[in-house]
Amino acid sequence: MVAASPPAPAVTAIRGPVLTFTGDPFAAGSQATARHEPDAIIVLADGKIARVGPAAEIAPLLSPGTDVVDYGRDALIMPGFIDCHVHYPQTQIIGSYGRQLLDWLTKYTFVAEQQFAEPAHAEAVAAVYLKENLRNGITTACVYCTVHPHSADRLFAAAERLDMRLLAGKVMMDRNAPAALTDTAQGSYDESKALIGKWHGRGRLGYAITPRYPGSSTPDQLALAGALRAEFPDCHLQSHLSENRREIAWMAELFPARKNYLDIFDHYGLLGPRTIYGHGIHLDDGELQRMAATGSAIAHCPTSNLFLGSGCFDMARTTKAGVRVGLATDLGAGTTFSVLGTLGEAYKVGQLGGQALSPWQAFYLATRGSARALYLDDRIGSIAEGMEADLVVLDLRSTPIIDFRMRHASDLAEALFIQMTMGDDRAVQATYVAGRCAYRRPALAFG
Ligand code: GUN
Ligand code: ZN
Repeated sequence: MVAASPPAPAVTAIRGPVLTFTGDPFAAGSQATARHEPDAIIVLADGKIARVGPAAEIAPLLSPGTDVVDYGRDALIMPGFIDCHVHYPQTQIIGSYGRQLLDWLTKYTFVAEQQFAEPAHAEAVAAVYLKENLRNGITTACVYCTVHPHSADRLFAAAERLDMRLLAGKVMMDRNAPAALTDTAQGSYDESKALIGKWHGRGRLGYAITPRYPGSSTPDQLALAGALRAEFPDCHLQSHLSENRREIAWMAELFPARKNYLDIFDHYGLLGPRTIYGHGIHLDDGELQRMAATGSAIAHCPTSNLFLGSGCFDMARTTKAGVRVGLATDLGAGTTFSVLGTLGEAYKVGQLGGQALSPWQAFYLATRGSARALYLDDRIGSIAEGMEADLVVLDLRSTPIIDFRMRHASDLAEALFIQMTMGDDRAVQATYVAGRCAYRRPALAFG
């Protein structure tokens, strides 16, 4: 169940094994960056982590009467998962059959998104979407709304009620979509600016300027997205990049003066810190270098890339080039809210390219790596004093077959890999948002 807002005591604490990262295992290796404490206490106060350390050290320091929730030895407490790229309006079209990107957009996506003209529909889907995030341990997401400003309003309002750290923006799209879904260059600038004024920096919310992709934005609209970014440099900016071969060929036709896909964004001033691009599957070396040099990030969307047949992201080449990479569901081209399931597919995508993503790298991507890709790693993505208290509590024995398999696991790396290969929403025992338990899994019965 998703818990209603009880008045949280000022200080609570949770106890159990903890895993977090202090750095980037792609760059520095897992030994130097993974921190595992087999029996830890995390003290939560005012939405932050007040203290964390071995239970034997922290327990004597707790003030009398502190409520300590003990999750036991079969749990693993991690930073809340972060979904770097997702379309909440597509929750209703997950698993739409038979098309690749451009036809899938026309046949399914643009049909569904028109229903968001109705604010009540947006509100209902936003509620389902956020609830499903919590059931899967996702405490922050960078979200595409539809072209309708109220689709962003409704999502932000729902996230604010949960005190969730969330980035979102209305999509800017002024061509190559049904008339009911297009804005104008100036209209999209005005509407985005109004939404920034209303939501950006309010509580834990942030605005992401969202030109959908250059296929659905005129040069005028991209130029105004660039103007908005220059005006509000602390906003995020999100778009899609180099996802599908047919799409890439079409971008070359639409923007003949630009030397490659990335150069379209570069030309309009849309690269830099706090910009995050979905996919980036088919980038050449020059594009990767430019991404790295500008501090622009990629959201890796493995279930989407497999589902739409878009291709296999090259994690090793991208991280080696120094590009920031985060993990994403990309629903509804992506097929699951489960971050564990998404990591399992990231592993398989790697295998197809002759790369074996390590469990350390995987769980880093879902937490601190995604926080770093979003330039939020000073606030979320790790468990340390002063960080915001967004946490997921995994149950490492959530199904009979996982329980059986775990009896044959020899170390934490193997236990983690079992979770990402076999686990799903049932493995999420509790989700904490700003220090409050926002989701607690109902009891599972198996024997
Ligand atoms: N490119 C432009 N829009 C979309 C979208 O909604 N999903 C995906 N996967 N790619 C896109
Ligand atoms: Zn997307």
